[in-house]
Amino acid sequence: MKNIQDYWAKKAKKAGLRSRAAYKLEEINKKHNLFYGSKIIFELGSAPGGWSQIIAKLKDKCSVCYSFDCLNMADVKGIKFYKYNFFDDEFKEFSKDFFSKTDLILSDMSVNLSGISIKDAEENKQLNFFCLELSKKLLSSRGKLLIKSFNNENLKDLKKEFLNNFQNVFIEKPQASKTSSSEVYLLGLNPK
Ligand SMILES: C[S@@+](CC[C@H](N)C(=O)[O-])C[C@H]1O[C@@H](n2cnc3c(N)ncnc32)[C@H](O)[C@@H]1O
Repeated sequence: MKNIQDYWAKKAKKAGLRSRAAYKLEEINKKHNLFYGSKIIFELGSAPGGWSQIIAKLKDKCSVCYSFDCLNMADVKGIKFYKYNFFDDEFKEFSKDFFSKTDLILSDMSVNLSGISIKDAEENKQLNFFCLELSKKLLSSRGKLLIKSFNNENLKDLKKEFLNNFQNVFIEKPQASKTSSSEVYLLGLNPK
């Protein structure tokens, strides 16, 4: 199993990608064509920038991607980065201009794992529901929401909420995601 992880890490390094995670987005995109028609893109939790590098490569030239993280991130050409915490007023103010205008929201966010599984699961659940609530305000009528989640007792509730809010819902486990990790990605298409 370690060899598989080494494979993705080495591949990313060789390709000049900042994270192995970049391949997860690339794979999900191959299946769902996320960037088609996506003129305004929000990327939540972007540092160190592996997904941003893929977004810059795959998005239409005329599309704009706003990427956010509470940590610093080195520039990625073609991406507008803002150092915001999503729970701060600065982000809330910024996002108001994009209500009902955003075509694609991508979140690879997770909390720093403490090792206390109940605490980690609860905090990640809060992040997941934050993304879902934000999507209700931001997404355009044909918008798409992709978020990282975890296959634990919260996933059922989250999937139910996705089904309440989107016409089409998918759960993806890309090959570059560690098989030992419970990480999965939820995709909602076409808000109801
Ligand atoms: C797994 S990393 C993202 C990796 C990225 N997709 C890549 O390919 O390089 C998750 C990011 O979410 C960010 N994050 C978590 N909670 C946040 C919050 N409340 N506000 C802003 N960023 C947050 C973390 O700082 C971290 O950089």
